[in-house]
Amino acid sequence: MSSTAATTPPGQPSAVHPPLEGEGASAKPILSVNNIEVIYDHVILVLKGVSLNVPKGGITALLGANGAGKTTTLKAISNLLHAERGEVTKGSIVFEGDEVQSLSPNHLVRRGCIQVMEGRHCFGHLSVEDNLMTGAFTRRDGKAAINDDLELVYQYFPRLKVRRASQAGYTSGGEQQMTAIGRALMSRPKMILLDEPSMGLAPQLVEEIFEIVKKLNDEQGVSFLLAEQNTNVALRYAKYGYILESGRVVLDGEAEALRSNEDVKEFYLGVGGEGRKSFRDVKHYKRRKRWLS
Ligand SMILES: Nc1ncnc2c1ncn2[C@@H]1O[C@H](COP(=O)(O)OP(=O)(O)OP(=O)(O)O)[C@@H](O)[C@H]1O
Ligand SMILES: [Mg+2]
Repeated sequence: MSSTAATTPPGQPSAVHPPLEGEGASAKPILSVNNIEVIYDHVILVLKGVSLNVPKGGITALLGANGAGKTTTLKAISNLLHAERGEVTKGSIVFEGDEVQSLSPNHLVRRGCIQVMEGRHCFGHLSVEDNLMTGAFTRRDGKAAINDDLELVYQYFPRLKVRRASQAGYTSGGEQQMTAIGRALMSRPKMILLDEPSMGLAPQLVEEIFEIVKKLNDEQGVSFLLAEQNTNVALRYAKYGYILESGRVVLDGEAEALRSNEDVKEFYLGVGGEGRKSFRDVKHYKRRKRWLS
């Protein structure tokens, strides 16, 4: 396998990455996003042909600075754009072999794909446990199964067990993030779209949350698409990453290759550069066209 990450020049729609030989990347995708375009308010073109794959059982990172289009991509997948006057105008989204653009968010949750929103979004006036229970509302398999899963969530998040009766609005930012992930788990997902889990949290807590994500991936086989500005932590836990800039994938590759890529180091990991630059600002930037390499 090539250790060099591939790039797509801005101005061209990114292609879905061809199957790679690596263990995770060669797995069948659970999710494929194929060249989608998203427009807000009928005029604002935000995603300009985004393609990505998440292998079954994988953790894939979607990276990029403020406003790159990470949240828009996740909301396009879970069909949450309508509430924001956004629309997928081109391309397709395939989950477990079926096109899902026309499914409601609820139906998609029933199929096993759920989003944990940026900013945590707990019901502040409800207890932690009641918040978790709201995650089970799409289920039809009875109270006993739901209670078993509640215990499972408490195994993964022992802090939540301690705080189960506390009003969620008065718990810490980290506990609220755990509650938001725990609530998603209550729907028995095959895949979680996790938007900026690190936002506003102390480094140690970020690490704690990512460790739990990794454990859920290893032990429960949950696939993750992880939108993060925190490139450093995301690339330590993900197997594969995509970097978005201005609504386009400008670079993608195995996490290890991305971490050692000079441009990623300079632009996203803050190593060796003078502050963060855009790929577009660097005239001599060597763009390797992956379809030529
Ligand atoms: N409802 C909306 N209407 C119009 N434009 C929007 C809307 N939501 C987002 N945008 C624009 O779309 C672009 C992408 O935003 P998005 O929230 O997807 O970025 P992001 O990568 O998640 O950024 P952040 O890291 O700040 O969360 C931004 O330029 C933003 O201003
Ligand atoms: Mg966002």
